[in-house]
Amino acid sequence: MYTVQNVLDALDQITGGRLVKGPFDTASGRNPFVVSKSSSIPGKAIVETPGLVFGDPAWPASRVGMVMTLTESSIELARALEIDVIIAHHPIADGANSGGVPLKSYLGLYGIAAIELHEAFHGLHPGIPFLHGHKAFRVEVAYGGVPGNILFVGVPLEGMTVLGDILDRLARFMGYREEDEMLKAEKRVRGCDTIVETSAASGARILLGTRTSPIGTVIHIFPHTGFSSAHLEKAKSEHPEAATVLASISRVPPTHELVGRAEALGMNFVVGNSHAVEIYENWMPLSYALRDLLPGIEYYLLRERVSAIPLQAAGNADIRGYAQEMATRFLLKRR
Ligand SMILES: [Fe+2]
Ligand SMILES: [Fe+2]
Repeated sequence: MYTVQNVLDALDQITGGRLVKGPFDTASGRNPFVVSKSSSIPGKAIVETPGLVFGDPAWPASRVGMVMTLTESSIELARALEIDVIIAHHPIADGANSGGVPLKSYLGLYGIAAIELHEAFHGLHPGIPFLHGHKAFRVEVAYGGVPGNILFVGVPLEGMTVLGDILDRLARFMGYREEDEMLKAEKRVRGCDTIVETSAASGARILLGTRTSPIGTVIHIFPHTGFSSAHLEKAKSEHPEAATVLASISRVPPTHELVGRAEALGMNFVVGNSHAVEIYENWMPLSYALRDLLPGIEYYLLRERVSAIPLQAAGNADIRGYAQEMATRFLLKRR
């Protein structure tokens, strides 16, 4: 019988000792993976503490749920599946990731331990360049002196020659066809043709260049980590042979400054995988590593699938009637 401590030990082994080991680790500033994330909005900052966020190391761990971002839906599903440990990638905020109530009230009631592992996991494997079809020969984690600003410079893998190869490779690995079928089925079942779903809506695209443009050396950036057009200028001057800018996890629209700068530099621009598939990029490899270290545990991937439906088509006639009545009789009456 495994315990939460066994899971923590396995994660510590996988990360090469990056987990917090106790209060001294968070207070001393000695663990570089204990980081505060803030937009300077009062009370909304988070401190990432790679390791146990809620629960007891002595609690049993027989079923583990792997999630990107902890939500009330994942907590409910974990409870229904009798999962005892949730391992979330993105940091967990008390009262926010637990359905607006304190973690101890919700996870405590369900007896579920929660572990977070974010920046401490990044950079442990070369999977993201691999999925996009290149091999990074240069990896920066604080490009231009900006912590977390990641830059990969890579060369195409064998068999990867033109931009169309990048799109086809991502379509294969990320299962575009299957996602498309899921969306078609959803549209049919719900009787609504205008449903939009994240994976289908945020697939890889070429913004500059064509399917037949040669890939060449790749500058792989993550715009949400702070990569600016000045950084692009600098990277291109360091690697003049670079022909393609590849942006992934976060996207940029064709009108974005970075795209304009790439065009001025005579480069191609491709947007690759979105954040919505990071569960495959990062959490599947971690799940496989855990399964190899702790094979007696059952692992579940709790994958979010978000779709949007126009309000007038949402729900069925009964729930639409209910919504209208509550709105008219109670919500609007007080105005
Ligand atoms: Fe990540
Ligand atoms: Fe992420």
